[in-house]
Amino acid sequence: MNTNWPKIEKHLQQLLNTTDEPLCAYVYDLDALQEHIKQLRSTLPTPNCELFYAIKANSDVPILRALAPWVHGFEVSSGGELAWVREYFPHTPIIFSGPGKTDQELTLALEKNVAAIHIESRTELERLAYITQRLNQPAKILLRINFSLHDLAPTRLMMGGGPTPFGIALDQLPACLDTLRRYPQIHLQGFHFHLLSHQLDADAHIKLLDTYLQQTHKWCQDYHLTIDHINVGGGIGVNYQQLEQQFAWPIFAQGLQQLVLKHGKKIRMECGRYITAACGYYAAQVIDIKEAFGDHYAIIRGGTHHFRTPYAQGHSHPFQVMPVTRWAHPYTRTELSAKSISVVGQLCTPKDLLAFKAPIKRIRCGDLVVFPYAGAYAWHISHHDFLRHPHPQHHYLLNEISSDATH
Ligand SMILES: Cc1ncc(COP(=O)(O)O)c(C=O)c1O
Repeated sequence: MNTNWPKIEKHLQQLLNTTDEPLCAYVYDLDALQEHIKQLRSTLPTPNCELFYAIKANSDVPILRALAPWVHGFEVSSGGELAWVREYFPHTPIIFSGPGKTDQELTLALEKNVAAIHIESRTELERLAYITQRLNQPAKILLRINFSLHDLAPTRLMMGGGPTPFGIALDQLPACLDTLRRYPQIHLQGFHFHLLSHQLDADAHIKLLDTYLQQTHKWCQDYHLTIDHINVGGGIGVNYQQLEQQFAWPIFAQGLQQLVLKHGKKIRMECGRYITAACGYYAAQVIDIKEAFGDHYAIIRGGTHHFRTPYAQGHSHPFQVMPVTRWAHPYTRTELSAKSISVVGQLCTPKDLLAFKAPIKRIRCGDLVVFPYAGAYAWHISHHDFLRHPHPQHHYLLNEISSDATH
């Protein structure tokens, strides 16, 4: 994605001028986000390929508004997400995934007319059947299947391909199809797969999708099924370690074209991370710099309670130091040059670590540390109120105009 760093820097500079408190903010480049999603859409084979956005990655309304015109709909994974989308987007198609759906959530899905419910177990299917009977309302479903593949190259985050709580293990498919035969008001639209996240290899991903389609063909033959589409999940990753080497979308889009021609089935995707990660920046001012037993630390205004991505992924997040000239304090400005430094937050735990032993040219108290690729699974997966530090500011830049929100 082509984010516009000078624009972000200018905005951060303006924010610094508005406060005497140490700054801590998320800034989202919605222009870049829209460019990115338009680019993805323009390369998808149409009409046989659909791209939904998995809002769990980032469900802020300005983000959803920027995406809504370009995606085929939103994927939600809870009743809360479902209600949130319907409140702001009464007509956008919704698909509903996720384990452990309650009766109330399944009822809400029917009331809010979702395009499909992705069923995670036979028990969930039985409960939905009961609810459809009670409400006298039909339902459209996909069965989420978990099956093992002998040549599945694992990624860092596996949701299937072996024992996990997600989806219906393949040996239980016949029993689910028996259940479905008893409830004609439930229409099986297709199969849903989400075996992994963090996929960085476009060829491997096409191979995986090919396997999904082959399996689907076999099940349709074995069980005499006619289905409308398969949902291949999300899972396209972001390379946080080598930012310039990202998933090769053009190769993937070509592969999709071939899959559509080969199998003649509609393919639906529900991506999260790959859509919104690059548009977000988490920026925090340095409060303290210290040395301990030969290691160096920069302590920033914030931490993993705002930006848990590095801890969740177990990685050292890339960052850049944005020098801040203004220093209005009477005391000495601590600084460090040509060293390796760990960036930590304000929490009283050694787990509050955002980057470790990263080389820097120079860093001073008061400088801003800016983490890119903070637009997905960042603020929304963080434990915001641990220690009750203030929340960061949130800014959404669109056509150089920012709209702000308080969390
Ligand atoms: C069922 C399902 N679909 C889609 C996604 C989105 O995955 P990603 O953000 O890796 O694209 C997830 C993420 O956990 C998921 O569980």
